[in-house]
Amino acid sequence: MSINPVVLVTRRLPEPVHQRLRRDYRALLNEEDRQYGTGELLRNAKSCDAILCTATDKINAEVVAGLPKSVKAIATYSVGYDHIDIAAARKAALPIFNTPDVLTEATADNTILLMLGAARRAYDGQALLRTGAWSGWAPTQLMGTHVSGKRLGILGMGRIGQAIAQRARGFGMQVHYSNRNRLSADSEAGAQFHPDPEELLTVSDFFSLNCPATPETRHFLNARRIELLPAGAIVMNSSRGAVVDDDALIAALKRGRLAAAGLDVFDGEPHINPAYLDLDNAYLLPHLGSATQETRVAMGFKSLDNLDAFFAGNPVPSQV
Ligand code: DGY
Repeated sequence: MSINPVVLVTRRLPEPVHQRLRRDYRALLNEEDRQYGTGELLRNAKSCDAILCTATDKINAEVVAGLPKSVKAIATYSVGYDHIDIAAARKAALPIFNTPDVLTEATADNTILLMLGAARRAYDGQALLRTGAWSGWAPTQLMGTHVSGKRLGILGMGRIGQAIAQRARGFGMQVHYSNRNRLSADSEAGAQFHPDPEELLTVSDFFSLNCPATPETRHFLNARRIELLPAGAIVMNSSRGAVVDDDALIAALKRGRLAAAGLDVFDGEPHINPAYLDLDNAYLLPHLGSATQETRVAMGFKSLDNLDAFFAGNPVPSQV
């Protein structure tokens, strides 16, 4: 690269990523970490060669159409790209890069946290302590649900789904999954494949959503499908909020049809359905799946590897 390309970075990224950006690009950083609206994003993109955005930026058809011609690529600091209108980007010949692999372990760990947090009533336990209401150990206090020996159903057996399965085996869980394609016997590692996701629901004492949000998966977990889960099942979502019908899940948690849910992602984030906040059996985290120091730096470096390769005219490691 002779003249460093100009990159608009829409959110504040970890410092090591900023350092690399300052070294290799003319980077327009967002040190205040303010979320840009559409107009501001387009104004800031003026004369930029690329945009490094995040999952909180809505790159819809209007944004794609409004981008200055100087913008030649968009790198998203995320593995998910449901915030980008991929069809519109393709039509505009605008390549999109993402960050798979580097957040697999952190997201799988977080899903296990959701599972254990929901199963072992971690929210109730914290509340008991923090409100000063704990009067000491009691034989019947906050009894949760055992995970060992239970069946874990995973919808979406990509990298993250497989990493969750690996961890769950360590807890002595039996893994079941549904996926567009069946995995090889090696990758299955004993997990049982269900071609029909609805059949998967019927065997899932714990059910983990790990599929991408697409028009086809929108509100996959709705009132009808919740009824297919075993009574007292526990649901985890670490993919995207849109795959759950919140009203249906909330109703099932309220009437005890489901024992609990562990949720890291929400439809319409950051505006979450307020009814979740009143539920003791909802263990809630604010989209922390990839939030480890190591992972967030690795995501930035992967985004920059993508941009470096693109501007050097080399094959891009992760193009959508
Ligand atoms: C992703 O990468 O898609 C996450 O949801 C944000 O870390």
